[in-house]
Amino acid sequence: MARAGSSKLANMCSPSQARRRQLRTWRPSPDGTRLLPANSAPEGDEKQRSLVDLASNDYLNLAQHPELIAAAKEEINRSGVGAGGSRLISGSRPVHDQLETQLASWLEQDRVLLYPSGFQANIAAVFALADRHVPVLADRLCHYSLLTGVQASGARLQRFSHNDLKDLNRKLERCHQLYPGHKPLVITESLFSMEGTSPDLATMAELCASHGARLLVDEAHALGVLGEGGRGLCQALPSNAVTLLSGTFGKAFGSGGAFLACGAELGETLLQSSGAFRYTTALAPPLAAAALTALTLMQRHPHWSGELITKSQHWRSALAAAGWARPGGTGPILPLVIGTDQAALDRQQQLENAGLLSVAIRPPTVPEGTARLRLVVRRIMPDRTLEQLLSALPIS
Ligand SMILES: Cc1ncc(COP(=O)(O)O)c(C=O)c1O
Repeated sequence: MARAGSSKLANMCSPSQARRRQLRTWRPSPDGTRLLPANSAPEGDEKQRSLVDLASNDYLNLAQHPELIAAAKEEINRSGVGAGGSRLISGSRPVHDQLETQLASWLEQDRVLLYPSGFQANIAAVFALADRHVPVLADRLCHYSLLTGVQASGARLQRFSHNDLKDLNRKLERCHQLYPGHKPLVITESLFSMEGTSPDLATMAELCASHGARLLVDEAHALGVLGEGGRGLCQALPSNAVTLLSGTFGKAFGSGGAFLACGAELGETLLQSSGAFRYTTALAPPLAAAALTALTLMQRHPHWSGELITKSQHWRSALAAAGWARPGGTGPILPLVIGTDQAALDRQQQLENAGLLSVAIRPPTVPEGTARLRLVVRRIMPDRTLEQLLSALPIS
């Protein structure tokens, strides 16, 4: 096993000249279904120049929801914009407590702690469960933030093949031989952001239990989307099957910020010793208020997630019928693997010419030779978006 600190991690942040990215700036339409390039020429009406948003992770169209906007404004009037201090000094507000309590009850977890971002929460999560003596087994396609956490902890990192439980089992067995007496940590996501796939989490949890391993699950893309009522995939597992769950408000919740959820003892440990919780300004109160409203809406509309899955499956079938390889998984992330960087960029341009935005995701974000269009299905989309997409993407 290698210490986490590999050159691959470094390469992910300093791509070659040919792969340098450029910032593009957008103005969302009031209903959040379209994006207008902020620097586009002012001629023509805005609708004509805007692109249907098939790229954002705002799966339930909540970022522009009037109730979220009203809640954020009211919270600004009550608490101001920023918290002005860390949670343990002077930054805790009633909205933080309310959000933590309501989330814990929704997810049936003892304790929830808020963090300013999912990236930070993931670093904190790994840091809480691993140190340089702990063997860490992470899915080969885990998010960069999780790998950064492993690197920061100094733990020994080994990757298992994507969603491959046989490979995980082999590696867990080897851990016992190589590091007797050390509890391994297994890291996965419940909905992989660039693949759209999910692991068999119930079996993975059983495997971890049988090997005495701890399990960290990043539910960033699954919350609001997968599982009963959109409560993610961990919620259906027996209590204690997952050691630590991480979630973000920056995707289906339409807000910003994040959280970790776990049992009471680990929750108390995080409160007392998680540097990423203690030594950072509390989540901005208006973001917490918007996240709380998003959660309340999800609870009031538990059918939203099922509707989104049905729609996503319809899109998968339509793409497959048009000759594309059926994207894996069941959720709203549908990658169309194209191959080379240039071919993926050409496809992106083809879509833009037809009024649709889906961004080409290229290495090092995804493995070499698998550049792709990452299509995101959202609960509300303009009529005929699928037809537009299919006619803009002929199989060549
Ligand atoms: C799987 C996964 N985990 C964590 C994060 C980080 O979340 P946040 O955007 O709240 O920092 C992301 C966002 O890109 C993600 O895709």
